[in-house]
Amino acid sequence: MESKDMIFMKKGDGESSYAQSSFLAQRIASISKPVVQSAINSLFHENLLPYKALNVADLGCSAGPNTFTLMETIIESVKSKCGELNCQLPEFQFYLNDLPVNDFNTLFKGSSSFLERYEDVSCFVMGAPGSFHGRLFPTDTLHLLHSSYSVHWLSKAPRLVDKDGLPLNKGKIYISKTSPPSVKEAYLAQFQQDFGLFLRSRSQEMIPDGRVVLIVNGRQSSDATSKESNFNWELLAEAISHMVSLGLIAEEKLDSFNIPYYMASPEEVKDVVDREGSFAIEQLDTFYIENGDRAIWDNEEKIAQSVRSFTESMMLHQFGIEILDKLYANFTHILIRDLARQTEPNKITSIILVLRRNVRLPSP
Ligand SMILES: C[S@@+](CC[C@H](N)C(=O)[O-])C[C@H]1O[C@@H](n2cnc3c(N)ncnc32)[C@H](O)[C@@H]1O
Repeated sequence: MESKDMIFMKKGDGESSYAQSSFLAQRIASISKPVVQSAINSLFHENLLPYKALNVADLGCSAGPNTFTLMETIIESVKSKCGELNCQLPEFQFYLNDLPVNDFNTLFKGSSSFLERYEDVSCFVMGAPGSFHGRLFPTDTLHLLHSSYSVHWLSKAPRLVDKDGLPLNKGKIYISKTSPPSVKEAYLAQFQQDFGLFLRSRSQEMIPDGRVVLIVNGRQSSDATSKESNFNWELLAEAISHMVSLGLIAEEKLDSFNIPYYMASPEEVKDVVDREGSFAIEQLDTFYIENGDRAIWDNEEKIAQSVRSFTESMMLHQFGIEILDKLYANFTHILIRDLARQTEPNKITSIILVLRRNVRLPSP
């Protein structure tokens, strides 16, 4: 099953929706703000600005609110730089991309409220439904491309069966300490293929010297089974296993399910960018947030609510609607127990990457 048919963040703008529960992504949007500001300054430096229009895409934007924070950062940075240079403000064209099953209605409602706040600026917003694992825009269109907490989603989970068709990752849903090495290898191969295709597609769409700002959930450790990379997936697998033991989920359903998500290391990210060859790396850094940081989540229930808001569509698809409330009640219980047992803080690692589109060499 391809991800594009089953991944969507919890819809609407109610209390448990992604729009109201994306506490971590909100924090990441504020941490990455200076990087976006600096990418805007680079566009002025390259003489791509001031220009008539600035074309920006946010890939995997969901239904808000973080894409609006990004739009605000971009408009304010350009305004400030144009003020400094005493030049005319460009028009802004924002392309908001996500998979077609995304909640574009909530996104468009949010974008019209946003535009009301910027009536003095010539600013246009367009939805761009489709998968970023392929072309989305015409050739040489984009000056700036941004994507936060989206590119770690794979186009599909790797096929994890042995030569007799038996599951390789029994009782688990991601790379785990008990997974055979072939599971890690298959995940890495899928990431390399998907991220390579992502870069190849963007390389066509970006204007030479245009900038890409990517923030992904990753890991610092070279060990893909480290706790920083499999914490939520281990606990969700435990919650699903409990449902199996109660006879509420068939064991084969768990054994045949793996999440289409890969938490890469900085070296793995760099390797794909270098091999693809269209972009130069200007920045590649990691930063981390503590899981349970009270400045982000009021309590453990809020952490569980956030996890539900981005995983529920997959659970619904694989295990059915009837078990969802019980499954997440169980997950919340396990999460509270595990966080209370921690002897050292559980880290959520992010990788931030700034790329410059290389100038295309004329064909020989
Ligand atoms: C965790 S949300 C992040 C949303 C937003 N960028 C933010 O910071 O709040 C990840 C988003 O990526 C989208 N996504 C996943 N795979 C995608 C793909 N292949 N093409 C486009 N969007 C994708 C999901 O639908 C989801 O809305």
